[in-house]
Amino acid sequence: MTTEEIINTKNEAIAQIIKAGSAGELEELRIAYLGRSGKFTCLIKKLKELPSDQRKQAGLSINEAKNTLTQLLAIQKNKLSQQAKSWFDPTVPGIKPKLGHLHLVTQAIEEISKTFEQIGFVRVRYPEAEWDWYAFEGLNMPKGHPARDEWETFFIDSRAHPKYGQIVLTPHTSSGQIREMQRVKTPPIRMINIAKCYRRQIDTSHVPMFHQFEGLVIDKDISVVHLKGTLDFFAQNFFGIKRKTRLRPFHFQFTEPSFEVDVSCGVCDGRGCKLCKSGWLELGGAGMVHPTVLKNGGVDPKKYSGFAFGWGVERTYMMKSGLSIPDIRLLYSSDLRFLKQF
Ligand code: FA5
Repeated sequence: MTTEEIINTKNEAIAQIIKAGSAGELEELRIAYLGRSGKFTCLIKKLKELPSDQRKQAGLSINEAKNTLTQLLAIQKNKLSQQAKSWFDPTVPGIKPKLGHLHLVTQAIEEISKTFEQIGFVRVRYPEAEWDWYAFEGLNMPKGHPARDEWETFFIDSRAHPKYGQIVLTPHTSSGQIREMQRVKTPPIRMINIAKCYRRQIDTSHVPMFHQFEGLVIDKDISVVHLKGTLDFFAQNFFGIKRKTRLRPFHFQFTEPSFEVDVSCGVCDGRGCKLCKSGWLELGGAGMVHPTVLKNGGVDPKKYSGFAFGWGVERTYMMKSGLSIPDIRLLYSSDLRFLKQF
């Protein structure tokens, strides 16, 4: 045995260990070189054949080679196990990303649209930044009329149009009434206009940006009976079969007669409870379209009549039994702890 033989055996082992592609192959190499009957054990046995002056150096070289190979085997084993961990198996089912859901107000809008679609209403949406004329004057509220104050409007700093006046952020969806008459031109009209509205108001039941849904029906011989039937259909489909509506006399400049609409309370079935006190909850306004408004929309009031109603989406949804939302502002707080409940 020569020193060269020890070095060659070590180099041969290193080359094979580096090439090994699995833990099993590494184990086979360990046995082949360092095992009880391995190549280095055989070399140790041959030491006694050497002259005594060469024996010590050869022994040291064998031990050094064995240590190097033991360390290399450990390094390669570790490397292979890391590679196995990062190996990608496309057939393993993936981790599903968490899915959110539509915002409560979007859910409400979809539900309201579907309810009215069942009785032939067509969903529309009109500008949020609108001419004063469509929001007020066209609806029988001339400039300086005190009724305008109730809408607490945001005015946009713009040059006034000679006919249409200034631009406002729509304070109600009623501004879509005349736009719809101008679009359809000749009745019948069955519009459901759902859009954002803006008012300078904020407290537990008011937000500066909210949504309204506005119904408008114009045809020959339309009466309060049709209005009441439509409201009852909505109440029963949206709130539940036992719910009823009632009309209370009110005043709006753009409807005559005008009403406030109430829906029977879902908690006490109209008997009166802590929530509603009287058995009824207020929904919003309604009435028969004023002849001046029909004229302003290009519709002949002698031939046609119509009804309209306009309610807040947020408040209507908050009234649905089972939903307990104490403050309307929660809807727009972007607080996931609140939104995830629905
Ligand atoms: C109107 O806006 C009329 N345009 C409704 C109407 C339409 C009457 C057609 C006749 C014919 P009112 O200001 O009451 O009416 O508002 C209607 C509803 O909008 C309210 O009942 C309420 O549900 C909702 N609402 C009004 N202001 C806010 C606000 N700041 N935040 C949330 N909801 C609001």
